[in-house]
Amino acid sequence: MTQINCTKCPRLAAYIASIKAIHPDYFCAPVPPFGDQDPELLVVGLAPGRGTNRTGRPFTGDVAGELLYPMLVKYGWATGHFEAKKDDTIVLHQCRITNAVKCVPPENKPIGSEITACRALLKAELAQMPSLKAILCLGTIAHHSVIRSYGLKPKDYPFKHHVQYILPDGRLLVSSYHCSKYNTSTRRLTPQMFEDVFKTLAAFLKQHPCNQQKENLTS
Ligand code: URA
Repeated sequence: MTQINCTKCPRLAAYIASIKAIHPDYFCAPVPPFGDQDPELLVVGLAPGRGTNRTGRPFTGDVAGELLYPMLVKYGWATGHFEAKKDDTIVLHQCRITNAVKCVPPENKPIGSEITACRALLKAELAQMPSLKAILCLGTIAHHSVIRSYGLKPKDYPFKHHVQYILPDGRLLVSSYHCSKYNTSTRRLTPQMFEDVFKTLAAFLKQHPCNQQKENLTS
């Protein structure tokens, strides 16, 4: 994982420094993306939670990862056994996980200027994945950040659960309610609702011309 050296957002830098002062063993830095460099599927979360800031791997150490990683395993985008630590056995396949904001924000709420500042990183990531075919956004902030990264207007691509858009470059954007502890414990997002989103992604990628070609070659 490449380290991200950025302290552009004073509020986030101060917050991370305050956690580091109490927990010198925590990762406490912008959390880099995890997974394949040039995947077919990119998962975009909101921002590291306190657990992710501790471990240094997206969705690792926060409740949200307990639904996300097993679902990735179920649909073949990961193998191994997920645990709330960086040295578990999880390996992503044709999949990468990143966040709209790379630093842990106070109360899990990044402010507008932080989301905007971090969008430069997201934009660069999106430009470096020529094989990318589908993007899964978790929550409104991730959804809007990806839409804006494409130079598009959120009002033309409104967020709702399980919404699907074909982006100008042909990639599929699917968005879901965030698999946060709050959303899952209130059942705003049920495991079935989350799985239905994965079914959409799997169906799209299975019938994608590149994957059809691969299937024809192996059959
Ligand atoms: N952990 C992350 O890395 N991202 C989220 O959006 C939530 C938890």
